[in-house]
Amino acid sequence: MLPNIVTSVPGPKSLELWEKREQYVVRGVSHSSKLFAQSAEGATITDVDGNTFLDFAAGIGVINAGHSPKEVTDAIKAQADRFIHTSINVVLYDSYVKLAEKLATLAPISDAKVLFINSGAEAVENAVKIAKKYTGRSGVAIIDGSFHGRTLLTMSMTSKVKPYKDGFGPFTPDVFKLPCPNVYRNNTTLSADEYAVSCADEFERMLNTTLSPDMVACVVIEPVQGEGGFIPMPKPYVKRMREICTKYGIVFVIDEIQSGIARTGTLYATEQFDVEPDLLTTSKSLAAGLPLSAVIGKSEIMQAPGVGSVGGTFSGNPVACAAALAVLDNVEKYGLCAKATELGELLTSRLKAMKEKYDIIGDVRGMGAMIGMEFVKDRTTKEPYKEIIDKVISASMQKGVIFLSAGILSNVIRFLPPLVMTAEQANYAMDVLESAIKEAINANL
Ligand SMILES: Cc1ncc(COP(=O)(O)O)c(C=O)c1O
Repeated sequence: MLPNIVTSVPGPKSLELWEKREQYVVRGVSHSSKLFAQSAEGATITDVDGNTFLDFAAGIGVINAGHSPKEVTDAIKAQADRFIHTSINVVLYDSYVKLAEKLATLAPISDAKVLFINSGAEAVENAVKIAKKYTGRSGVAIIDGSFHGRTLLTMSMTSKVKPYKDGFGPFTPDVFKLPCPNVYRNNTTLSADEYAVSCADEFERMLNTTLSPDMVACVVIEPVQGEGGFIPMPKPYVKRMREICTKYGIVFVIDEIQSGIARTGTLYATEQFDVEPDLLTTSKSLAAGLPLSAVIGKSEIMQAPGVGSVGGTFSGNPVACAAALAVLDNVEKYGLCAKATELGELLTSRLKAMKEKYDIIGDVRGMGAMIGMEFVKDRTTKEPYKEIIDKVISASMQKGVIFLSAGILSNVIRFLPPLVMTAEQANYAMDVLESAIKEAINANL
C-alpha cells in the first residue's frame, strides 16, 4: 500500500481529538505529529481522517516485524483468552520460560540467563543493578551522546539535557561520561580507525587517573547511538572497549534497545562486532508494541542479585511474552535480518545519491535499516542545520511519509522503517524525501 492523503494533514478528526489531548494530557508528553491513528498494517498507518502514511518511525523502533502481523495478533488473542496476568511472582506460565530459553539461546552470549522487565529504561537500570551487585562497585560509565531512558538513573546516564534532564536534578552520582567515537565529527588528524581506538584508550587513561577501576561496575554502550544521532560505533572501538573491560573487571553492557531484533541485519547489532558482551538489553521491537524488555547476560553475573531484588508486578507479562515468541518466529519465517540488510542498502544508496546533490546533507550513515542523515549549514564547519529538518519532516508528512528526527544536535533524520516495507514503498518515500528537501532548500533561498 502506498500513501493516500485525502484531507489536510492533520485532518479535522485528528484536530478535534487534539483539542481533548490539549485539555486533559500533560504537555510533558511529546508528539512529532498531531495525527491520531485509526489502523496500521505492515509499513503503513491510516489516521482517523482516512489518510494513509508510510511509517519510517516504526513507533520509535518498535515495529520491526511490521504493524500488527497476523501471527503476533493471533498469539496475543490466544494468550489473552487463556489469562492476561497471574504475576510471575505468584503463579508461573509457559510463555515466560519459553521466551527466556529462546532469548538465551539466540543471544551472542554463552551460558546466558534472562531477566524480564517492562521498558527500555528498566532494562538498562536493571543491567546496572546486576553489574553493581556482581562487582561490588558503584559507578557506571556511559558514552557521550547516549540515551538510556527517563528514570532517575537512566536519565542521569543520558547526555542531552533539554528536554530529558531539564530541571530534574540532582542526578545519580558516579555516572562517568566517556568520549564518543563520532567519526563524522572527528576533528583530529587521525584516521577513522585510529580515532576510534583513541576514544577507547581515553577510557583506559581515565581509569588510571581521574577514576579507578574499583569505581566502575559497568560500561554501557549502544552499538548504534539512537537518540544521539544514529552514530554507529566503529568495530575497533567496540573491540578495544571490550578488552579494557575484561582487563579491569568491568561489566561490558551493550544496550540493543533500539538496534536489536533484526534492525541492523542481524538479530543483535553486537553480532557484527565480533565481541561477546557480558550483559545485553533488549526491548522495543521484541514484542511488536507490547511493553516488554529483557536483560540477557552471562549466568554468573546475572545470578548476583538475591531473590526478590529484581523484577516487578508486570515484568514478563504473559501476553507480551506470547507476542515476543511470535515476533522471533516471524524474524526467522520472513527472513527479517536479510530484509533489514536489503532495505538498508536500498535506502542508503538513495540517501547517498541525495548527499551528492545537496550540500546541506553532511553525512549518511548507519547499520542495516538503522540509518541517519545529518544536516549541516556548511560542510566544512559542520554547523548543525536543525531548522531545515523540521521543514523537511513536515513537508514529507503532508505528502504521506512519517519521518522522525534525532541527534544530540537535533539535526539528523532517522530512518527506522518496518522491515516488511517493500522496495516500491521505500522508493516512494525516498522520492517524497527528495522533493521535501528541494522544497525546504528553495524556501530558504
Ligand atoms: C538505546 C536506548 N536505550 C534505552 C531506551 C529507553 O527505552 P524506554 O523508552 O522504553 O524506556 C531507549 C529508547 O529510545 C533507547 O533507544
